[in-house]
Amino acid sequence: MKAIVIDRYGDAQELHEAQLPMPTINPDEVLVKMVATSVNPIDWRTRMGRSRAGWNFPIVLGWDVSGVITTVGTSVQQFKVGDAVIARPDTSSDATRGSYAEYVAVKADKLALKPANISFEEGAAIPLSGTVAYQVIVKQLAVGKDDKILVQGGAGGVGLFAVQIAKAQGAYVATTASAENHDLLRSLGADEVIDYHQTKYTDILHDYDAVFDTTDDIENGLAILKPTGHLVSIAGQPTFVQQSGHPSAKHWWLHPNGQDLAAVAELVAAGQVKVVIDSEYPLTTEGLRAAHLRSESHHAHGKIVITIAEPPKLNNTVM
Ligand SMILES: NC(=O)c1ccc[n+]([C@@H]2O[C@H](COP(=O)([O-])OP(=O)(O)OC[C@H]3O[C@@H](n4cnc5c(N)ncnc54)[C@H](OP(=O)(O)O)[C@@H]3O)[C@@H](O)[C@H]2O)c1
Repeated sequence: MKAIVIDRYGDAQELHEAQLPMPTINPDEVLVKMVATSVNPIDWRTRMGRSRAGWNFPIVLGWDVSGVITTVGTSVQQFKVGDAVIARPDTSSDATRGSYAEYVAVKADKLALKPANISFEEGAAIPLSGTVAYQVIVKQLAVGKDDKILVQGGAGGVGLFAVQIAKAQGAYVATTASAENHDLLRSLGADEVIDYHQTKYTDILHDYDAVFDTTDDIENGLAILKPTGHLVSIAGQPTFVQQSGHPSAKHWWLHPNGQDLAAVAELVAAGQVKVVIDSEYPLTTEGLRAAHLRSESHHAHGKIVITIAEPPKLNNTVM
């Protein structure tokens, strides 16, 4: 099968097309014929060697799956051949199971059905970013009706999901973004959008209940919270003092699982959350190199999607 791999750590030029053996599946896994995937900052950090996991080369990057099941493992009950699915798959020790590939093996507990009214490209944008946004807003910060929350970095892949999920919870949502993204964020429900190039949000926001930090700006985020408030950062590591203070800060790592992913997919299917796609590139050497450079710019608005194949016909004969 075709995949985009790296044979050593380095810049975007290290990404190149290769032919790899088809993945084999364990009893608790399914094989997915990929239609689309997406790029996250962890991809290029790993490419640069900043997230070394002791993997062997070649490494297949990418952790968003959107496609159709072609084979199910013997112990998989909930999914069948022909199901359109999305997933944030586990990483594997041999590092050849990333999603920049035509086929990906995924453990069944990481899968969610793709709602029929969203495209495979939209589906590819949801797993990593949407699930971490959902876990922070709904589970970690437990944002509720009329709570005041600041989402730092509202125009990013995670931030756009977080703003909308917080609105769906009934919160008052402030967010930071460059001026060109303000109309987009307001159209998606943000109550207050602050241009962080012009205005220090610590000058105008006070007594907030919650902060979701996607930009590693913990000290400033803590400064706008009530003593009972909480900050969760997915981008920075709070100090011991920040963790044990009032307000408090903690770091959160995504816990991939099919249930939380399905909850986000339902919000999208119901129209409560819109998927914003920044750009699309094909699964080619040039496509992935350009997609990584776009992500490294730190100014993508929404998700960078990689298109892999035409959607197969959704029936039980897909192989
Ligand atoms: N811990 C985890 O499990 C986990 C999971 C996912 C992501 N992450 C991390 O979370 C961070 C965000 O991820 P992402 O996918 O959302 O990244 P992204 O899509 O690349 O974020 C790009 C956005 O960041 C905004 N931005 C850049 N600097 C900013 C600043 N100083 N203030 C406000 N906004 C700023 C830009 O907005 P403008 O163009 O409007 O300036 C742009 O829209 C990354 O560091 C990523 O590695 C962690």
